Amino acid sequence: HFYVAIMAGGIGSRFWPYSRTDYPKQFLDMLNTGKTLLQWTYERFAQFIPPNNIYVVTHNAYADLVAEQLPQLPKANIVGEPSRKNTAPCVDYISHKISKKDPKASIICAPADHLIMDGVSFTSTCLNALQFVEKHSALVTLGIKPTRPDTGYGYIQFETEQVADNVYKVKTFTEKPNLELAKTFLKSGDFLWNAGIFVWNARSILAAFKTHLPEMDELFVNEQAALNTDAEAEVIERIYSQCTNISIDYGIMEKADNVYVIPSNFGWSDLGTWASAYDNLDKDEQGNAVQGKNVMLVEAANNMVKAPHDKLVLLQGLDDYIVIDTADVLLVCKKENEQQIKEYVSEVKRHK
Ligand code: GDD
Ligand code: MG
Repeated sequence: HFYVAIMAGGIGSRFWPYSRTDYPKQFLDMLNTGKTLLQWTYERFAQFIPPNNIYVVTHNAYADLVAEQLPQLPKANIVGEPSRKNTAPCVDYISHKISKKDPKASIICAPADHLIMDGVSFTSTCLNALQFVEKHSALVTLGIKPTRPDTGYGYIQFETEQVADNVYKVKTFTEKPNLELAKTFLKSGDFLWNAGIFVWNARSILAAFKTHLPEMDELFVNEQAALNTDAEAEVIERIYSQCTNISIDYGIMEKADNVYVIPSNFGWSDLGTWASAYDNLDKDEQGNAVQGKNVMLVEAANNMVKAPHDKLVLLQGLDDYIVIDTADVLLVCKKENEQQIKEYVSEVKRHK
């Protein structure tokens, strides 16, 4: 009864201009590893979940890309969404769909764009979580020891008493705090980052939707008969046009009182921004992470440079910058301001 739903419908706007709306980062080999982030994610789960029980939920526009990158995945397990409504509708949809097929399902909902170093530890953490939620009405999230006051993550405060093997009850869940709050959380020492990898049984997550996002959930409940039939796509189109746009973190995790965390240590990194890519790449003696053969750096330090073209790129006297050259866009952005890239993308409208 173990399932995984890989959420792969984001547009990766903080990785612009490399990640584009029509070809987002989960379909790219961000760190030159020979496989795309989605392919790594799939393989990680295929170690312990049979392909029939692995679903990829994505925007309809990416369904062909998913099929191309994951030929092993049964076609029926590529679940298309007609519009971008963030992760709450995505989770509600897939939970109803899987639950109709297998009411006893326990499901991992995971992002498609993370970097995980220790696959063995990852597998055992996931299995521990699955075994816990089989028996408990619990919304489990995997927690990571924070290293900086990042405002792009959820922060979890938990009780010190263990309720099962390495499982703790969550006291507070705060999604994307402001910098001041993030600094306080980090300093206090008893917060974890939300890895964005959730584990629950179908019954518990559907109960949480019913309580915390009742209007959204009702849309799916009313149309349950159409799921896993030929009528599904049409019905989903109608439901999505009425769904609110909200993430699972704001919609459910911040509100529910049956949230638990498993502190994890499998070498996690959210490849969410250029600085996180920088952290995971090899650096030269001046701390520059450079991708591209024709890049010359003079008195330049701690830059993230990606310029995979024949064009020569010469940087002099530049420190702590992100420099990304693509065929039609050149981005030069201060590393510390990288969270703003997301806003520029909607402004320039050239993210195609
Ligand atoms: N199917 C589908 N549909 N997938 C989506 C959608 C959607 O509308 N929107 C986003 N996704 C996918 C993304 O592709 C990604 O794999 C995953 O869902 C998470 O979305 P992000 O947009 O990357 O979320 P985030 O990074 O801002 O925040 C989440 O992850 C952090 C850790 O990486 C939250 O869960 C935070 O609390 C967490 O710390
Ligand atoms: Mg993310």
